[in-house]
Parts: sequence; C-alpha cells; structure tokens
Amino acid sequence: MKKNILKLKLRQIFLKHKLSKKHAEISSDYLIKAEILEAKGHGLARLKMYCDRLEKKLINPKPKIKIKKISSSISFINADNSIGFVGADIAIKQAIKNAKRTGIGLVAVRKSGHYGLSSFYAEQAVINKLMVFCFTNAPAALAPHGAKKSLFGTNPICFGVPTGKIPFIFDASTSMINRGTIRRADKLGLKIPYGVALNKKGKITTNAKEALEGTQLPIANFKGSGLAWMVDILSGVLTGSSHGGKVRDPFDDFSGPQNMGHLFITIDPKIFIGSKFIKEMQKNIKFVKNLPKIKGFSNILYPGERKNKTYKKNLNKDISIPKKILLEMEELNAIK
Ligand SMILES: NC(=O)c1ccc[n+]([C@@H]2O[C@H](COP(=O)([O-])OP(=O)(O)OC[C@H]3O[C@@H](n4cnc5c(N)ncnc54)[C@H](O)[C@@H]3O)[C@@H](O)[C@H]2O)c1
Repeated sequence: MKKNILKLKLRQIFLKHKLSKKHAEISSDYLIKAEILEAKGHGLARLKMYCDRLEKKLINPKPKIKIKKISSSISFINADNSIGFVGADIAIKQAIKNAKRTGIGLVAVRKSGHYGLSSFYAEQAVINKLMVFCFTNAPAALAPHGAKKSLFGTNPICFGVPTGKIPFIFDASTSMINRGTIRRADKLGLKIPYGVALNKKGKITTNAKEALEGTQLPIANFKGSGLAWMVDILSGVLTGSSHGGKVRDPFDDFSGPQNMGHLFITIDPKIFIGSKFIKEMQKNIKFVKNLPKIKGFSNILYPGERKNKTYKKNLNKDISIPKKILLEMEELNAIK
C-alpha cells in the first residue's frame, strides 16, 4: 500500500477510536515508521490491540497529560493512560529541552502504555546532537534467572550518540527476540527461531503460541535477566509505575490500563570535552572498523547502521501488508 494512503487510513481509524487529530497523527507516523524499519512486530500487527484498548477506555483517548518540573533538568510526566507513543513523544521533547538548557535532562513518565521502538525517541535526541538513554518496562515475558515463571518484560535498553554521520543507536530487548515478533508470528501462523523461548513445560519451542504461553529466554543468561531487572527498576519502580510483573499485557489483560513507565536521559556530549566530542567519536568508530575481520565479514557495523540502511531502502517503497492485517484494518475503519 502507498504510504500516503496508509497514513490516511490509519489516521481515520485512530480518529474513529476517538484520538485527537494530533495524537492520531503521532500514532500513525510511529506505526508507519516501524513498518519502514521492518520492525513489523511493532507496526500494523499491533493496530487492533491499540484500538481494542481505546474502545474499552483502557487507553485514554483524550488524556490530560501533566508535566511536573522538578528542576531545570528533571521533569516528571503523568501520561494519564495515553497511547504510549504520545506520552513518550512529549517526554523525549522535554528531555531534549532540559539537556539543551542544562547539559542533562532526566524525564520520567508514569501511567503510560506500549510506546513502540525506543529508537523512535532516541533518534529525536541524537538529531538534536544529544546523547540519550531510553528505558521502558513491559509485560511479563521473561523468567528471572532461577525462576519458573515469567516476570520481567522484554525491557529494552536503548543508547544513542551523535556521530556527525549515521547516528549510533543501540536498541535491544533484554530477551533473545522482541515479543512483538512472537505476537506477529502467532497472528500470521509463522514459526519463531530456535532457542529463543520455552513452552509451558520448559522445553525449547519454535511455535509462537506455545512461546507466548511459556517464557522467553533472556540474552546471555543471568546477565540478560539482570539487565531486564535494572530496566524494571529504572522505568517501573523509580517512576511510580507498575513493576515486578504487574504491567498489564496489552493483548491479553483488559482488567485495567497498562500503567507502564519510561525513563529518558539526555546528555549534551560537549559537557566535558567540548566540540572535540564528534571528532573523538569518529576516531572511536574507526578504531573498531579498522580491526582485522573474521571470515564472512567485510565490514564491522556499529549499532544503527543496518537500520539506517533499511530505512533508506524502504523509504520510497510501498508497504506490504498481510491479508489478515488488511482485513483487520477494514473492520476497524468500518466502525461508525
Ligand atoms: N516498547 C516495548 O515494550 C518494547 C519491548 C521490547 C523491545 N522493544 C523494541 O523492539 C525493537 C527490536 O528489539 P530487538 O531486541 O529485536 O532488536 P534487534 O535484535 O533487531 O537489534 C538489537 C540491536 O543490535 C543492533 N544490530 C543488529 N544487527 C547488528 C549487526 N549485524 N552488527 C551490529 N549491530 C547490530 C541493532 O542496530 C540494534 O541496536 C527495539 O526497537 C526495542 O526498543 C520495545
């Protein structure tokens, strides 16, 4: 589908589900961006979930978002159960302002929901020549090291730095793969890779449904479990949001809003070494890229390089949408 037509359709669907024009625009743009980046588990496959939650008022279509100034660097946002994109978009813009003013910005968000890719927000800071960390917790999907039951979310860690060229943006779940990919595989009847999830009986499975009923595996064993825990503390405990497995799953749990938390940290990279930073950053990347390579590697990529290529490759292409999702979109658009 052509992007301009898709954008109109998405806007229409969100407006029918009572979002304001501005919030419908932000949400449509982020969903399309996920598709362009081929992060399909965070794109149109989630549209019905957002709409179901809007219909049930578990996402507040007309939130009264409050920004509390704690200091010139620190802000605390109550997103009033807005669609996650909106609270997070306001937060990163505030964090950018704070860092531009003082050298560092720290913005916490509570009463939020699933906000898509952390890189959506990191990119905005990096374009503004800032370094950035983005954290969000997520519904239970990973068993803490040694536990039988899932409790941590796939809690991504995102770190971005301006390089003067393609931004360095490391953005990764603390699980072997992100949950959106498993959700989409379940919806479309696809298999998931071997070794990323266990079924209810604790056996490795490539069946998406079994994986959703079982538990996902963390990256690097107890280290991934520790990192997921760290993100739960930073985005859940610190922000006064749900944590410890209490963030509601947006697909399965309609007993209340998700109550997810996010934390954004923005840093002016010039604070210590001034405008030399970018030059040093470029030297740093060069040191890595100039290393002798193992068989099969002609280049060592830094985080963000591959996504940047994908984005450019797909920017002027139509978006291919599986039949099942097209049907969902038609149904969502038919609502009066
Ligand atoms: N909102 C939520 O609740 C939530 C939860 C989990 C994940 N997510 C999002 O899901 C997205 C995907 O997460 P993921 O774990 O599947 O990411 P991924 O495995 O696709 O990529 C992880 C990181 O590795 C880098 N990378 C990939 N291939 C590389 C290579 N060959 N060389 C060097 N670097 C390389 C990427 O640039 C990226 O920064 C992220 O954007 C994340 O924010 C969101």
